[in-house]
Parts: sequence; structure tokens; C-alpha cells
Amino acid sequence: MSEHLFLRACRRETVERTPIWMMRQAGRYLPAYRAVRAKASFLELCRNPALATEVTLQPIDEFGFDASILFSDILITLPPMGIDVIFPDAGPKIPTPVRTSEAIADVKVFDPELELPYVMEAIKQIKTGLAGRVPLIGFAGAPLTMLTYIVEGGGSKDYPHTKKLLYGAPKDAHALLDKIAHNCAAFLEAQVRAGADCVQLFDSWGGIVSPGDFREYPLRYAKQVIQLLRSSKTFSERPVPIIYFVNGCAPYLDDYASSGADVLGVDWRVGIDEVRRRVGDGVALQGNLDPGALFASPAEIRTRVADILARAGTRGHIFNLGHGVLPETNPEHVRAMVTAVKELSARS
Ligand code: CP3
Repeated sequence: MSEHLFLRACRRETVERTPIWMMRQAGRYLPAYRAVRAKASFLELCRNPALATEVTLQPIDEFGFDASILFSDILITLPPMGIDVIFPDAGPKIPTPVRTSEAIADVKVFDPELELPYVMEAIKQIKTGLAGRVPLIGFAGAPLTMLTYIVEGGGSKDYPHTKKLLYGAPKDAHALLDKIAHNCAAFLEAQVRAGADCVQLFDSWGGIVSPGDFREYPLRYAKQVIQLLRSSKTFSERPVPIIYFVNGCAPYLDDYASSGADVLGVDWRVGIDEVRRRVGDGVALQGNLDPGALFASPAEIRTRVADILARAGTRGHIFNLGHGVLPETNPEHVRAMVTAVKELSARS
């Protein structure tokens, strides 16, 4: 069987048509997900391989996306690091944030196969369920994004505790980022060993710093993770593509391509043509429809899809939202987007 078009696009090839998937494609906008979720908490879903498999496959069966993404969460790695996390309806909370040198020293470096066996089991079951239809993307939170959650204790507007640590106690910040980077690389490596066909690093909060601090913190540690992966035994046997996504990447385009990733994720606040000009031809790009654009009419969605396809060009482009799908999204508008991408990008 020839390699799936999603994986070929990751390698910067022009493919028969642009592949498409969606960040957070297995989530609350989907009635089938809400039905499963009515019977189990979010963490139960993440920890039960059969249920995680079921919700991972739902959007593939429903919409025909070209890639599946493991149903899990970036914060699933906190308990093995010795940090509690809860998921109330308002978004994740870390009841005891890590803010001192002593607390940072206590953060654990862990063995993902021992501590998160249910993730590897879910990957195996999903691969069986997919039966080769589309590739499976594994993922982890990038170091700076993980630090931000751990230090703030949840979402934030101004990130005061993060910035106190980064700029007031940089040694402590680097010590914590280094530990997280090792955990992140080990976790992604284990996902690839279990069968993931691609891995994505989510730097959802990588966009909160100045360009100089982007190089010093998010980019530096994303690079560390990517280098650890590329030099690992797992990757010497199975070198899967790596996607790096920074939400709010526009201020950093001159440095973004140096991450070492195969694919760069692009949010919607910048034209993907501008990103291509600034990062060059050495990487594939993923993006970049505003998730909020799915509130427009199907005709308007099609117009916006056409605009992104024209700007992105044909070499190594994966169509995606610029960030996660919003829970209020109408599934029929998702279908309209998928149809538009498939029809408008066909190159036969
Ligand atoms: O389909 C997929 O994309 C896979 C599933 C996935 C989830 N979280 C499921 C989820 C993925 C890839 C993530 C990653 C994740 N989690 C990120 C990085 C990507 C991004 O969106 O920036 C971040 C920052 C988190 C942390 C997190 N988890 C937040 C902020 C929330 C609350 C979000 C919300 O909409 O309420 C979660 C919970 C979460 N993760 C849900 C889902 C489906 C909602 C939980 C529920 O069912 O109640």
C-alpha cells in the first residue's frame, strides 16, 4: 500500500489533494462524543483504552478526515510528574501549582510505559480500529506550555506566575523546562513505539513572550524535544514526522523553521502565504482556518477554504483549523469544510 497522503504532505510533497484534519476533532461539538461523555468523566475517557478508541474514531467515521489524533490530553502527564490535575467543566485546574525551587526539584522524570500504560494500549486499539484507513497522530504539550499550566495552576490572562519564574528565577525555569522536555520526548517516543504514525507538539501558550524570549524558552525546549526524538533508537527505526504548533506564531516567523520539525502549525492570525515566504520551503505547513469561521454559512466557509488553499500553495500543506474546534460548532459546518477542502484542492 502506498504511503497515505497525510504522511506524504508532512514530507513536503505535493499530493493528489490537500489532506485535512482538525485539532480537537474528537470533542464536544460532536453529538456522538457527548453521548459517550454523558456516561464517563473526561479523565475516565482518557484512561479507558476502549472508550478512548471509540471517541478517536468517531470523527474519522463521521467526516472522513485524513488523519486521526489520539484522544487524550496534554495534562495527562502531570500525575506521573507528581502533580495533581482535575478537569472541572470550566477547564483544567492544578490544585497545587509548582512555584518554588523545592517544588521544581520534586517534579518527577517518569517512565511513560510504566506510568501511562493506558495511553499505549489506546494507541494499539486505535491502530487496530483504523485498519490502515488513515494515520494516527500522537501528541504531547510542549515544555513551555506545560510549564505555564503547572506554574499558573490553570488557564490565565497575564501569566504572572509564569513570568515571575521565567524572568525572576530563570535558573529554576530552565531546570523545570529541562525536566519537562525529557518527559515529553520519552512520552512521544513511547507513543511511536506503540504505533503512532506522527507526533505533534502543542505549544498552545508559546505565543505569550517576546521574540527574544521565544528563542530562549518555547523554541529552545521544543528543539530539545525534537533533537531527543531524532537521536532516539525508536526514531532510528521508525522516523515519523514531527509537527510543532505554536498558537500565535506570527511574531516569531524568522525563527520558527529552526525548530527542526517536519511540519509547522499555523494559527489564523497570520496569512499562511506570509508564513511560507518567511519560513522557506524546507518545512510543510499546517493550517490555518479561524475555528470561529465555522460559525459562518457553508458558502462563506467554502470561500475561506479556497482563500487558504490559494495562499498555501501545493507543496506540503495540511489543511487544519488554526486552533481547536469550538464546542459550539455545528457538525454540518465541519462537513461543509471537509467537502470544500477535498473538492477545491483536487489535483488530478
Ligand atoms: O481530537 C483531539 O484533538 C484530541 C484530543 C485533545 C484534547 N485535548 C481533548 C480534550 C487534544 C489534542 C488536547 C490537547 C490539549 N489539551 C491542549 C493543546 C491543544 C490546544 O487546544 O491548545 C491543551 C492546551 C489542553 C488543555 C485542556 N484540556 C483544556 C484547555 C481543556 C478545556 C477545553 C474546553 O474546551 O473545555 C481540556 C479538556 C479537554 N481536552 C476536552 C477535550 C475533548 C473537553 C473535556 C470535556 O469533554 O469536558
